[in-house]
Amino acid sequence: MSDDSLAAAPTANVFEAAGGEPAFRELVGRFYARVATDHVLRAVYPEEDLSGATERLTLFLIQYWGGPGTYSQQRGHPRLRMRHQPFAIGRRERDAWLAQMTAAVDSMELAPAVRKAMLDYFDAASTAMINTGGSDGNQTQD
Ligand code: HEM
Repeated sequence: MSDDSLAAAPTANVFEAAGGEPAFRELVGRFYARVATDHVLRAVYPEEDLSGATERLTLFLIQYWGGPGTYSQQRGHPRLRMRHQPFAIGRRERDAWLAQMTAAVDSMELAPAVRKAMLDYFDAASTAMINTGGSDGNQTQD
C-alpha cells in the first residue's frame, strides 16, 4: 500500500454511513481507551496523554472516509508511513493495534458493509505501517 493510497478512500460515503463525525470520535475514543491498557501498544506511544493522538487519528479517519479535510489543514499530507518511522512497529505491534481497533469497530453499531470496509482498510493500513522486525508488510513492493 503506497503512501498515496493510504491518504484517501476511493469512495466518500462511508463517512456518512458510519454516522459522521460523532461516530468517528466515539470509535477513536474507544480505540485509545484500549491502547491505554495494552502494554504492547502503550510502550510505543511517547506521550503519557493520549488526547493529542486521539484527535489526530480522529481527524485523519474523518478525512480518509470522505468527511471534512481538517486533518490536512492542520497536519499537511498524511504521509502515514513516514510519520510512523520514529516508532518501532513490528508484527507484534501491528497485531496488537489491529486487534484493539477491530474490538473498537465491533463495539460500534455499524452496518455490515461499513464494518467490512473499515476492517479491510485497517488490516491493510496497519500492515503497511510495519517498519521493523523482518516479516514486514512488503515494504519493497510499493
Ligand atoms: C500498526 C500499528 C500502529 C502503531 C503501533 C501506531 C502508532 C502510532 C504512534 C506511536 C503515533 C504517534 C502518536 C501521536 O500522534 O501523538 C501514531 C500517530 C498516528 N497514527 Fe498510528 N500506529 C499504527 C497504525 C496506524 C494506522 C493503521 C493508521 C491509520 C489508519 C494510523 C494513523 C495514525 C495517525 C493519523 C497518526 C497521527 C499522525 C500525525 O498527524 O502526526 N496509525 N501512530
